[in-house]
Amino acid sequence: MSDMQELKNRRQQLMQTMDVGIAVIPTAPEAIRNRDSHYPYRFDSYFYYLSGFKEPESVLVLIAGTTPKSILFCRDKDMEREIWDGFRYGADAAREALGFDEAYSISELDAVMLKLLANQPKLFFSLGDSAAWDARVTGWLNSLRSQARNGVSVPDDMVDVRKLVDEMRLYKSPVEQAIMRRSADIAAAAHNRAMQFTKSGMMEYEVEAEFLHEFYRKGAQSPAYTSIVAGGANACTLHYNANNTQLNAGDLLLIDAGCELDGYASDITRTFPINGKFSAAQKDVYELVLAAQYAAIAKVSPQQHWNAPHEAALDVLIQGFIDFGWCKGSKDAVLESGAYRQFYMHRTGHWLGLDVHDAGEYKDKQGDWRILSPGMALTVEPGCYIRPADNVTKDFWNIGIRIEDDVLVTQQGCEVITAKAVKTVTDIEALMKAN
Ligand code: GLY
Ligand code: MN
Ligand code: MN
Repeated sequence: MSDMQELKNRRQQLMQTMDVGIAVIPTAPEAIRNRDSHYPYRFDSYFYYLSGFKEPESVLVLIAGTTPKSILFCRDKDMEREIWDGFRYGADAAREALGFDEAYSISELDAVMLKLLANQPKLFFSLGDSAAWDARVTGWLNSLRSQARNGVSVPDDMVDVRKLVDEMRLYKSPVEQAIMRRSADIAAAAHNRAMQFTKSGMMEYEVEAEFLHEFYRKGAQSPAYTSIVAGGANACTLHYNANNTQLNAGDLLLIDAGCELDGYASDITRTFPINGKFSAAQKDVYELVLAAQYAAIAKVSPQQHWNAPHEAALDVLIQGFIDFGWCKGSKDAVLESGAYRQFYMHRTGHWLGLDVHDAGEYKDKQGDWRILSPGMALTVEPGCYIRPADNVTKDFWNIGIRIEDDVLVTQQGCEVITAKAVKTVTDIEALMKAN
């Protein structure tokens, strides 16, 4: 299936789900970083999923009903601007390239939308996502209301279009899975590269630079999120990203880093000893977290519910915390009281896709955890973070470990698409020794 056919199918599927009405899906605005410098542009994930179009100042409009229609509004071709900023498709070429039924200049949006919105029964729009777009759409509706005496009716029902697309985005097609595997491969190679590169005395940002080097040289467009490169005690700060501390022999280094390739995120965490050899205490905790991760991955399979991997990881971790003497009482009691949260305070994963924390509900309409099925993509990322505390002996203090892989649900079970990033104690020590 060509990408264009897949994009057309997605739009068609959404219009079928809408049944009647009109959807308005703008892309993300450009953002100023400071003065006249911009952040690198990133399109809106919903817009991109349905359009495949990467340029800013674009809007997708879908009209459901007996003759469904897809319409793109985008920037005009503009030789002067293209000399400065680069290529722009313009409406005609964008329509051809991505298979829209119609395409117009973004400068015609207000005028065309007033015609398209008139007499539509339902509006599908992400109200509340952007104050500017809320105001623009409200302006169109008010304008139409003022024409009521001419017999024009205004959509009297508004639906959040994201809810409908979330359900579609949850199931990755073979085309998406192929991109996710490539994104995972690049990130896995970067983690292996970092293990080979790291030496005590280096700064965390030197290791971060290895990631960026590997991401860009393999064709990824960006890191998928700000990389966490956390040596020693920094690993116990879950969202640490200052990445400016010197690395000490004897400490662990936790790295949570993934790239974005053609829109799709990878999200991998590895934790390894800076001097290439785990201490006894580090190894004990590492093996516990790894056992929790294997137990969780074993629960990623069709018919299991979303929370089963988390429950499996917790079961292993809590038993470990009791065996270490850090938590007292039975497993059930520790689970019930939440005492384990001293060491494990986050969940074991999230959906993964165009967004690193991807779209999609975790519960069904009845409020039950949703059932996993083929095509879903998620992370599995248990951890253990030990801040200095009276109930833990000193040799464990400041150990922070997380092991995170990206997993696709398959017919039989699952595929760990980040498996190339080494993660057993033996493999890590062997890779680091080979330097
Ligand atoms: N890197 C973000 C996360 O692991 O959820
Ligand atoms: Mn994650
Ligand atoms: Mn992560």
